[in-house]
Amino acid sequence: MDAGDETSYHKITELVEEKEKEFGVHPNVIFYLAVAPQLVPDIAVKLGKLNLCKDTHATRIVVEKPFGHDLKSALELNTLLGSIYKEEQIFRIDHYLGKETVQNILALRFANALFEPLWNRQYIEHVQITAAESVGLEGRGGYYEGSGALRDMVQNHILQLLCMVAMEVPVNFDANEVRNKKVDVLHAIRPIKKEEVHESAVRGQYGAGWIKGKEVPGYREEKGVNPESGTETYAAVKFYIDNWRWQGVPFYVRTGKYLNQKATHITIQFRPAPAYAFPAEAAETWRSNRLTISIQPEMDIRIRFQGETPWPDDDPGPGEHDLQLRRCRRRTCA
Ligand code: BG6
Repeated sequence: MDAGDETSYHKITELVEEKEKEFGVHPNVIFYLAVAPQLVPDIAVKLGKLNLCKDTHATRIVVEKPFGHDLKSALELNTLLGSIYKEEQIFRIDHYLGKETVQNILALRFANALFEPLWNRQYIEHVQITAAESVGLEGRGGYYEGSGALRDMVQNHILQLLCMVAMEVPVNFDANEVRNKKVDVLHAIRPIKKEEVHESAVRGQYGAGWIKGKEVPGYREEKGVNPESGTETYAAVKFYIDNWRWQGVPFYVRTGKYLNQKATHITIQFRPAPAYAFPAEAAETWRSNRLTISIQPEMDIRIRFQGETPWPDDDPGPGEHDLQLRRCRRRTCA
């Protein structure tokens, strides 16, 4: 159907009624708006006129990011949705939160006593969050041109990851409680002054080249993109979180399109051991501990540490180890 044509919305009601007869139960209806952002207000209004949406128990509306384009438009959209739907019906979705590995960050942090005592400025030197993509615009030039990497990835997906790494322990897993703890992190992020942006952020744009043996056009040659566009397809930002836990610990985040591989991961870099009692030659290649949470395409958690284990004859002595946390199928696991 044409989303702009109000008369065709009755088709939705008909379909739901048909399903209701077929299943013999009153259906739950979820409207999932993964559409071009400019269409969201209009669709939300038109859907809101259907009787279906008046059923506040059974009907939900989900809005995919981006939620507006800036603060003003986000507030306007919020007000609009709030005037049509009850708050319990509205879901503002960031699909990264549906990734199992992302949900696992909270389990790792808050279901283990091991990490929490170390999870602060005293032991952590810096945090890196990387979301590298090997895909380009995938035909979404019209949308991306007005968005860029900062709006498309940083202010939503990457800040969600940052919040999960940096948030305080929630009292429970009630959605509001978790949200509030994340909001505390956002409030504590040090604003970057305009004149200091160049010290804390880098933007880039891809040119023409080859990706996995395939020739691809430069960003400015993509369909729907201004040939003189200044939109960034790569962004890296250094954030500081001004609170007791994180004071002085940089959080480096970066994301970009058409990079050489798809890899989303979080690295927690610990401070070096205060001193080594080993001979200098033994310790000279040692590096500090590091916890890497790989979100995709690999899904694993690794800890790098130094140690002494039996090595093959040609590589004796202490060295760097990688401890991979695997899921046990059974309750006991070797
Ligand atoms: C979307 C962005 O929200 O996330 C896309 O609009 C991006 O530009 C995508 O490619 C990345 O999602 P994922 O799940 O593939 O990491």
